[in-house]
Order: sequence, then C-alpha cells, then structure tokens
Amino acid sequence: MSVTSRKILVTNALPYANGPIHIGHMLGYIQADIWVRFQKLRGHECHYVCADDAHGTPIMLKAQQLGIAPEQMIADMQQAHQADFADFQVAFDNYHSTHSDENRACAELIYKRLRSAGHIKTKTIEQLYDPERKMFLPDRFVKGDCPKCGATDQYGDNCDVCGATYSPTELKNPRSAVSGATPELRESEHYFFDLPAFEHMLKAWTRSGSLQDEMANKLNEWFEAGLQQWDISRDAPYFGFEIPDAPGKYFYVWLDAPIGYMGSFKNYCERTGAADFDSFWQPDSNAELYHFIGKDIIYFHSLFWPAMLHGANFRQPTNVWAHGFITVNGTKMSKSKGTFIMARTYLDHLDPDYLRYYFAAKLSSRIDDLDLNLTDFAQRVNADLVGKVVNIASRCASFISKKFAGRLAAQLHDTSLLDEFEAAADGIAQAFEQREFSRAMRDIMALADKANGYIADKEPWQAIKDPARAAEVHEVCSIGINLFRILMVYLTPVVPQLSARVQDFLQDQFVWDSYKTRLLDHPIKPFKALLQRVEMTQVDAMIEDSKALNNAAPVTTSDNSELAADPLSAEINYDDFAKIDLRVVRIVHAEHVDGAEKLLKLTLDLGGESRQVFAGIKSAYQPEQLIGQLTVMVANLAPRKMRFGVSEGMVLAAGPGGSELYILNPQDGAKAGMRVK
Ligand code: 2FM
Ligand code: ZN
Repeated sequence: MSVTSRKILVTNALPYANGPIHIGHMLGYIQADIWVRFQKLRGHECHYVCADDAHGTPIMLKAQQLGIAPEQMIADMQQAHQADFADFQVAFDNYHSTHSDENRACAELIYKRLRSAGHIKTKTIEQLYDPERKMFLPDRFVKGDCPKCGATDQYGDNCDVCGATYSPTELKNPRSAVSGATPELRESEHYFFDLPAFEHMLKAWTRSGSLQDEMANKLNEWFEAGLQQWDISRDAPYFGFEIPDAPGKYFYVWLDAPIGYMGSFKNYCERTGAADFDSFWQPDSNAELYHFIGKDIIYFHSLFWPAMLHGANFRQPTNVWAHGFITVNGTKMSKSKGTFIMARTYLDHLDPDYLRYYFAAKLSSRIDDLDLNLTDFAQRVNADLVGKVVNIASRCASFISKKFAGRLAAQLHDTSLLDEFEAAADGIAQAFEQREFSRAMRDIMALADKANGYIADKEPWQAIKDPARAAEVHEVCSIGINLFRILMVYLTPVVPQLSARVQDFLQDQFVWDSYKTRLLDHPIKPFKALLQRVEMTQVDAMIEDSKALNNAAPVTTSDNSELAADPLSAEINYDDFAKIDLRVVRIVHAEHVDGAEKLLKLTLDLGGESRQVFAGIKSAYQPEQLIGQLTVMVANLAPRKMRFGVSEGMVLAAGPGGSELYILNPQDGAKAGMRVK
C-alpha cells in the first residue's frame, strides 16, 4: 500500500461538564484514539481535538445546587475529564471547553452568516414556565400524570409506563421538577434554524460519502418524515452564549456544542501553530474531517451540523462515525450491581491497555452495541496479550540475554515466517483504516499463534543443551524477537503503554513502516515482565468499589441532555432536608479492610454512642491520619450490609475523588454528638 501524506482532523463527542467519565464513554474515545494513533504512526498529519460540553440548563441547575458558579464547576470537571483521558492514554492534541472565547467567536460567526443568508427565522411559541424559579422549563423538567394512561410522575415528553409521547402541556397535574411549583403557559419568541432549506444539500451529502449503512437508513427515515425547523434559542436564565442582537436569548447548548470542535481546533492552531485553521475548514479544504460519536447523537451530527456548516460557508465533515453503547455482563450498566464503572475506578485497579485491547478485539465499523463481559475480558487479555504476544518475547529473550550477550543474531537464514508477518501489514493497515479493529486483532493473534508454533517446534530450550547448536538457538530466538517486534508495531495504536515498554526493551522506536526492517546484530535489554495478567480479584475489587462509590455519594453521570436528566434529584424541599440527621462525630478508630481497595473501616463516637461505618476514602487518607479527628456523618441512614460488615451511617466528604477527597472537618468548639443544622 503506498502511503501519501494526508491532512486529517478527528474529533470525539464532547462530554458534558456535569459528571464524570464512565467506561461507557470510554468506548468512543478509545476507538477514535486508536484510529488517530494509527494515522500518526503511518506518518500522516492528524490532529485530534476535543472539549468539554459546558452549556445548558442541567449544568446551570447543577452548579446552583452545588452553590458554586457554573464557571467553577465546569473548570473542576474539565480537569477531572482530562486526567481520565490522559490516564487512559487518549492522546488529544487539544482539549478545550465550549465555554471559551474561541467557541463564542465561531458560534457568533456561524450564526451571523446563517442569519444574513436568511436561514434564521423567529416564531413565538408557548412553553411551560416555572413562576417560582422564573424560568422556562425544558420538557424533561416538567413532571405529571400521563395524559393517556394516567400513570403518575411521568416526564413531560413521554410516559415510561405506556410509552405514549406527548407535549408537556398535555400532562395532567403538571409540576416543575425544579421547584415543585405548578407551571404556567407563557409565550416567548424563539429563533429557529431553517433545516428544511438544506434538504437537497443533506441528501447529496448523505450520498456523497461512505456513510455507515445504519446511518444512511436513519437519514432516509428522517427525510421521509420531513425535516423540521430547529429551535436554537433558549430564554434567560441559561448558562451559554447570548445570541447577538437578541438580549436575554441564548444559543441552545446543541447549537454551540458541535461548533466546539472548531473552537477547540482554533484554540489549538492559535496556541501551538501546529496547523492552519482555515485550510481545514474552508469549503474547498482538502483536509479530511471525521467525527466519532455515539449512536444517540446521530441526528445532531448528520443533519444539523452539516447543514449549519454549509449554510455558513464552511466545509462538511468527510464522515461521521457512530458507535454503539456498551453493556456489562450482558446488561445495561447498573449501579447496584457495581457495573456502572467510572473511568477513574477502572484506572484504580486495572491497566488501561487491557480495556483498550478488549474494545479493539470487539469493535467493528458498525453501530453495534458491545458487551464487556468481565470474565471474558480477563480471559481474552490474558490469553491474547500475555499468553500469545508477550509470551513470544519471554520465551526467546532470556536465551539472548544469557547466552548471546543480549545481542540479536547478525544474520537470519530462515526468513519465511518473517516474510509472512511483513506481508500481513497491508491487510492489517486496511482493517485499522476501516475501523475494523476486531479483524486487525484477529489477524495479529493468528500471526502470534504462528510465532508460538514456530518456537514450540524449534524447542530452543532443548537445543541449547547441545553447545554445537548454539548458532541455531541464536537464530531461532532472534527470529522470535523479530516476529514479536512486528506484532507489537501492529499493536502500537491499541496498547500504547505496552508498546512503549517493548520499544524500550528492544531499544527501538516504532513507526508503522518498522515492520519492514529487521533488528539484526542489535542489542536488547534484559527481559522484564512486560505485562501482568489480569487477576479476577482486581476485577472484583473494581466492582466492589463501584458499588461503594455509588452508595457513598449519588454519582451524577455525565449527561446534560435535557432529554435524559433527572432533575427531580436536583432539589429537595425543606422537609426532606430536615429528615437528615447530621452529627459531628469523632473518629476513634480507623483501619484498612482486607480485600477492599477503597474502603476504610471507621469507628465513630457520636458523644457516647459508637457506630461502625465503611467509608470509600482510602485513596485519600491513611487510617492513622484520621484517628482523633472530628467529622460529620449522616446518623439516621438505614444500616447497610456490605461484603465486609454492616455500615451504620455515612461520613461526608467532598472533592473529585482519588487523593483529592476531603472528609468534612468541623472546628471551633464542635463536639462529638452535636447536631449539624
Ligand atoms: O451527548 C453528549 O454527551 C453531548 N455532550 C455530545 C456533544 S458532541 C458535540 F456536538 F459537541
Ligand atoms: Zn402513560
């Protein structure tokens, strides 16, 4: 395959800035990162950008609920997201925020161009309004009785019980999910993007690229149903960008979210000078532009986004690639089962290369869901990466070190297997290019089987006993190491940390074309274990931690969608608060819990009464630091049976997690037993 240099810009869907990243999110980021690493390894100019999606009603309300400015909340969250991505080896060239000057400039520019071209319309609409909070309510922020079946406590857009869809004004006994007040119907002028005007262009775009079949089918359904005007404005109060010349009106979060791809890239170009912004976005750009997204947001990326770009005289995406969702052990991720696993919890227990490999081994270019079966995960990683690939090196390296002064043979006579490994490069590259990662992994593992077969056949451990056969052993082991090296070149986009250790061991630096060269008469370092096996105890501990985390504090997932938020948990009334018995307590004893990765067992004195509580704070505290300290607990929480014993309450802690977790520490005369009011 001849490789001419390409200019490529890749983006991932921007995560909402109101919750942590979980392993479900990681599928898309790992998929794109593998693809980008592959392009870079091949020597292409490939830029990879992302940002936090920072606007919208749920973010505004969450910050209010936390009592902090939204700017503060999104800054904290961005830091946590970036740490998660970096530790999963998702190597963005730039990570920014949609709440940025660059994004505001891009959003205003696009809006103004659309407006001058006549693509923005206004219309007065009626919407439910919360008179207490003085805000219009998105559909999901209204609850009431289903107009069809009468089921209570249903959202304003559809009924969980009978499946009916309706508008929030049809709900019986509606109430605001923000304040509980009865909403009123009010009029407001809204701004609309004239999507139907782009039908012709969108149809052409759909046919021009090599869209995924499922995506093309979806688009055709939408075309048949008829394109609608898209409401792009929201009334104050709203956390976002005010619309130019429209005081009190804000861009709906989904207007400036995809523009965030541009905003981040602009920030990157200006900050680093690594690329020229215009040459990637002008209508006649010869650069490629790909968006990796989840299947739930196809509508925004395949209709609104290309149309907005076109209407504002920018280029269209080369392609939009959607992936499916993950299930864990065959079902939806579940908090109670401990399978709702945060990225950080995974990282606390397991090597990111394991998950990257497992996802790669199961990913295709289709929009299928992917099951993370945790037993299969451990077995697959152990069998393939440890048992097949790394095993080749471990079987050969010790002979090279001990018998041949750590130097590979200068000449190889039997190169047939090496030739075969080289010949596989184009097919594997094509599979990576087409996002058929499972095919690439299958091909690589089939080669690994051949390498192991070769070594088993040659039995260097027998031959070495005969001094006359030393040269033969040298050759066999040097071939083995070279075969291993080629496989690791191919695996580099998938398991970057393992690959980095291998490059150090081989004293080599991989590019894709490294498969064409052989290491001859070349020193290698003494073999050290390159990859540990996955132990089920680590997996179990991760599940236990996920359970503990979900019980220790309500985990908000990163979901800002007005379609999916559960705003009722955003606010409690005074009576709810009054039910919580908060007490100052003294930690009289603290100890590690055998087998629990995150928990400490605390004995608390409530001023005479003693309680035992398991707290997920081990990442931040040593037991001895805690003994004697005052803290605050929820004293009337029903006792909970855990694997390690009964927990009789909960201590309060703040912070993003990991080592940054702070138990609340009353001072100035507080005494154990005092109520906190
Ligand atoms: O669905 C989501 O999680 C959105 N935050 C994705 C936005 S992608 C892009 F359009 F910004
Ligand atoms: Zn119903």
